[in-house]
Amino acid sequence: MFSRKTRRMDPSISARRPCAAAILALSASLVVAVYFAPSSAAAGTLGGRARLGQAIFQQRCITCHNKQPGDTSPFGPPNLNGIFRGPSPLTAKQATNIIENGKSTMPAFGSVLTRSDVDNLIAYLRTR
Ligand code: HEC
Repeated sequence: MFSRKTRRMDPSISARRPCAAAILALSASLVVAVYFAPSSAAAGTLGGRARLGQAIFQQRCITCHNKQPGDTSPFGPPNLNGIFRGPSPLTAKQATNIIENGKSTMPAFGSVLTRSDVDNLIAYLRTR
């Protein structure tokens, strides 16, 4: 009885093979698509460094620097959106110095962040 059942199922098994091949091809193209996906903010996702910087920013900076783009209110910590653009942009060196050593009421992060963390933060701030 078992062998008869198996024999009857045989055609359906072979009929499923093209389906398996399609799934394999689909997952392979998905892997390729993910691997070669553009890693830019334009695609809605941030690239490696900026993504790491964003995580640090949300953990350590956003409590003070939560101003939205276009907020020019003179109160509170400065708006960091677009600080590396415009007529008087901050240089990466200046930003690194402020982040590591602090400035007035902004605390110094030189002892809690590595240089690579700071570079990642700057990569993230460049996307904003
Ligand atoms: C306790 C609040 C506070 C936190 C937390 C904080 N900042 Fe600041 N930040 C300030 C203040 C206040 C200033 C303005 C200092 C001044 O110019 O007197 C500032 C200035 C800056 C500037 C210079 C902006 C400019 O236009 O000159 C940068 C860059 C900056 N912060 C980045 C960061 C980053 C990155 C973090 C997180 C690692 C961070 N800050 C965390 C309060 C904060």
